[in-house]
Amino acid sequence: MPIVFWKTIVVHFTILTGVCCCFRNDVNHGWNPNIPAIAKYFSTKGRYEEVNPYLIEDILAVNRSILQPPSAQCREIHATAIIRHGTRYPTSKNVKKMQKLYELVKSRASGQESWLREIQTQWTMWYTEDMDGRLVQKGVNDHKHLAVRLSKLFPSLISEEKLRGGFIKFITSSKHRCVNSTLSFKAGLTELWAITDKEFDHAVNDALMRFFDQCTRFVQEVDNNPSALSEVDKFKQGPEMKRVTEKIADRLRVPYNNITDDMAEAAFYLCAYEFAIKTVNSPWCRLFDVVDAQVMEYANDLKQFWKRAYGYDINSKSSCILFHDLFSRLNKAASENKSGQKVTEAVTVQVGHAETLLPLLTLLGFFKDSDALTSTNYDTQTQRSFRTSYMLPYAANLILVLYDCGGGDLRLQPLLNEKPVTFPGLTDQQTSMPLYQDVKDHYRELLQGCDFETECQLFKSPASI
Ligand SMILES: *[C@@H]1O[C@H](CO)[C@@H](O)[C@H](O)[C@H]1NC(C)=O
Ligand SMILES: *[C@@H]1O[C@H](CO)[C@@H](O)[C@H](O)[C@H]1NC(C)=O
Ligand SMILES: *[C@@H]1O[C@H](CO)[C@@H](O)[C@H](O)[C@H]1NC(C)=O
Ligand SMILES: *[C@@H]1O[C@H](CO)[C@@H](O)[C@H](O)[C@H]1NC(C)=O
Repeated sequence: MPIVFWKTIVVHFTILTGVCCCFRNDVNHGWNPNIPAIAKYFSTKGRYEEVNPYLIEDILAVNRSILQPPSAQCREIHATAIIRHGTRYPTSKNVKKMQKLYELVKSRASGQESWLREIQTQWTMWYTEDMDGRLVQKGVNDHKHLAVRLSKLFPSLISEEKLRGGFIKFITSSKHRCVNSTLSFKAGLTELWAITDKEFDHAVNDALMRFFDQCTRFVQEVDNNPSALSEVDKFKQGPEMKRVTEKIADRLRVPYNNITDDMAEAAFYLCAYEFAIKTVNSPWCRLFDVVDAQVMEYANDLKQFWKRAYGYDINSKSSCILFHDLFSRLNKAASENKSGQKVTEAVTVQVGHAETLLPLLTLLGFFKDSDALTSTNYDTQTQRSFRTSYMLPYAANLILVLYDCGGGDLRLQPLLNEKPVTFPGLTDQQTSMPLYQDVKDHYRELLQGCDFETECQLFKSPASI
């Protein structure tokens, strides 16, 4: 019903004003009928635009004044960008779950609501298992647009001259969605500058971008250890999740035992994927209200917390190899600049996964709350900073920009999803752009240790624990 209602309004508005962009006002008022009310809670299945809503109006919008170097002399000399792949199809495992829910709704749900009838008579199950996590067209655009925005944000680093001169390096995980994202990022730049006479290489490097697969201790103790996620399992059996599944069953008028937590997850994915891939507010979204979505988000955050973040020390330590790689690039640029040479690698673009970014963000100390996320503290965690919806949408990115501010004064600016952030525990009252030396002092222990081989071996000698 409301969908039809809105179509009517839109048609009238369009006729009256003769413009087609009537949704703009709705965006400003925070209510756009094309955006599900629960879109802010999709965790790692969320759209990048939900994190930066100004992009809904102008996907190429950039505000350079967010960068506030302490002096006008400051010049960017290097940037490393670690970027998650763009929007993708569901994995075959999730497609199976979605198919199961769809069959149930088609065969057993009853009721006259228009959204339910729409699912039963108009919506078709178009997801197939062979889609298996591939990048979608929206994901191609995520990276093309990000590339253009970053070139506007850092025009002296991400420039045609630097690209043609080989000063921009591309590294990617071997997964097709990452390789395609890398190609898309490059295409964003070559199309921007109409470069047709030259192609630019990228290197595939899973040791760096998929370190989690190669860290034996992480694989054995966390990834392949079902008991590592016991808090997640307990939460899924707990009262908050039970209420969500019962409300879904009520909306569909099916027995409570028909809706498992897997089914609730599948319904949430259907809403999220229809939105992320096709930008539609699908009838599946009607199975949740905001309270339900917050519970679903918590279940996902809980999983990421225990599997990739603060839950176990090895989760973040598995990224030691990427951590050292990052600082060695920064050091190289710093010393080249200092010794009067040209910086040979002005920009490094590294494309990976949510599972690449989260352990590194954790190692650096970002989004750490005073209490761990557990199965029983949902109520006291409503103000937590650990929110994957905010941290890890598609095309999420961590960018570290090294500045020379004259007289050997080097500074490092971290940006998460194009917004300046401050290194946790490192407070410089003046600016979010601390001295590079202070950053290195802050992470001294990790810079001197955090050895991937040592951390990832299965049995550490007592002395090294
Ligand atoms: C750009 O960012 C600055 C600093 O954060 C802010 O004051 C200003 O309003 C922003 N401008 C626009 C157009 O968003
Ligand atoms: C991704 O890359 C593969 C292989 O290069 C190609 O067949 C496919 O069409 C690409 N997909 C997208 C969305 O670009
Ligand atoms: C749904 O519940 C009914 C009645 O308890 C049962 O017969 C049916 O097998 C259930 N279907 C699913 C898919 O769980
Ligand atoms: C080092 O960086 C500063 C700031 O961009 C620049 O003025 C200087 O020329 C650089 N030095 C060299 C040798 O490139």
